[in-house]
Amino acid sequence: LFAGETEFLKGVVAMDGLPPDDRIEVCFAGRSNVGKSSLINALTGRKGLARASNTPGRTQEINFFTAGEEHYLVDLPGYGFANAPVAVVQKWQALLKQYLSGRTNLRRAFVLIDHRHGVKSVDEEIMTLLDKSAVTFQCVLTKADKVKATDREKVLAQVRKALSKHPAAFPEIVVTSSEKGDGLETLRTIIATLV
Ligand code: GTP
Ligand code: MG
Repeated sequence: LFAGETEFLKGVVAMDGLPPDDRIEVCFAGRSNVGKSSLINALTGRKGLARASNTPGRTQEINFFTAGEEHYLVDLPGYGFANAPVAVVQKWQALLKQYLSGRTNLRRAFVLIDHRHGVKSVDEEIMTLLDKSAVTFQCVLTKADKVKATDREKVLAQVRKALSKHPAAFPEIVVTSSEKGDGLETLRTIIATLV
């Protein structure tokens, strides 16, 4: 589905810049630095496709990628970046709200959660926004390679508990590592089977 056929389409800063809604769309949301861009790169097998960096807040636009003939992958700007100016944060929140509530072809949002840290209050806010927008969302734990196997269950339990409070949450949690490849095939299959 993805290898060799994913292209960057455009970066969008306002609703009127959105591409036509003629493809099945999934978006990747999550705190700054959680690994959204790295996951898109790993899923598509294209290292430099979505920019990934150590600098939180690097992805400032809603970035659209075409995957194969039928899908858009959408890299959302990271939230919860403490040092961003208030005006910038507010502009983003407004655009995010408009995007999530108005995008008819958006089939699922993946909410990325750092496997080391679990669900934080800013993640809860996004989940509540997704509930209100009636967008089905699924949790993807990232950076699993940084968590010892024996420490995983505690975080998983915390995430499950958080999800149980959100009507728009899809129950299955996907554990991934963009570095080691864990969970990537599972995620590709999930995306490929959305209709
Ligand atoms: P913003 O665009 O700022 O919101 O960040 P982002 O969510 O796109 O994060 P990004 O993909 O840029 O990754 C942030 C940092 O985490 C980078 O240094 C990545 O190399 C690292 N990283 C991402 N995924 C993994 C992973 O699975 N394992 C490990 N060990 N590091 C990862
Ligand atoms: Mg990014």
